Amino acid sequence: MTNHLRLGVNIDHVATIRNARGGLHPDPLRAAEMAAAAGADGITVHLREDRRHITDADLDRLSIGVALPINLEMAATDEMLGIALRHRPHAACIVPERRTERTTEGGLDAAGQHNVLAPIVSRLADAGMRVSLFITPDERQLEAAARLGAPVVELHTGPYAHAEGGAVVFELERLARAAELGVRMGLEIHAGHGLTFDNVAPVAALPTLAELNIGHFLIGEAVFVGLDAAIRRMRAAMDAARAAA
Ligand code: PXP
Repeated sequence: MTNHLRLGVNIDHVATIRNARGGLHPDPLRAAEMAAAAGADGITVHLREDRRHITDADLDRLSIGVALPINLEMAATDEMLGIALRHRPHAACIVPERRTERTTEGGLDAAGQHNVLAPIVSRLADAGMRVSLFITPDERQLEAAARLGAPVVELHTGPYAHAEGGAVVFELERLARAAELGVRMGLEIHAGHGLTFDNVAPVAALPTLAELNIGHFLIGEAVFVGLDAAIRRMRAAMDAARAAA
């Protein structure tokens, strides 16, 4: 357990906006530098197979130019493994990836894909990366992650973020139980997906979490208040929730 809840800022959608015009603006590297100045603890990017947002060239520049640890979200493919091994980011988070999805929709089937994931997890870990698996908050997936030897899991907060009415508490309790179980298994627990100013506090208050990864909302909010202000407000909301817990 840790008192400081780390904030990983996912800057993919800075690249999405840039790519809409095909030029150089807005620059994800500049966003990463601003995120660092605003209190982010890490920068997260997802290099997708179709390169719809962050590109290989972005990853090159970010790897050289960003002082913060980089968390590379990646599909469990040979191509992505090769890229991760060349760049050796601080962390590699294995996520499921479907070409037709708008964003990462579900968690990884760590249980069903053991044989595919095992060599990838061990090669990433052997190269010094902190490997994390993006999973739904359930016992079977946690056990599978532990069996794979991943030191970290990132719990999918999408079902919590999109829940309504009584389902919100149900999903929050599911996250809390999974996080506690994961800590008992010796895993470091991260969480992310769909988090906003309005829903982050109950998640940030969970003492078993070490890191939140937040992207789409922050980049969207930056349109209105600026990236620096959006990240500072998220940082403050997380810290306040932790302090009150
Ligand atoms: N964590 C993982 C593994 C993700 O795939 C994403 C989305 O790219 C996030 C966190 C961040 O989600 P959001 O963009 O909804 O904040």
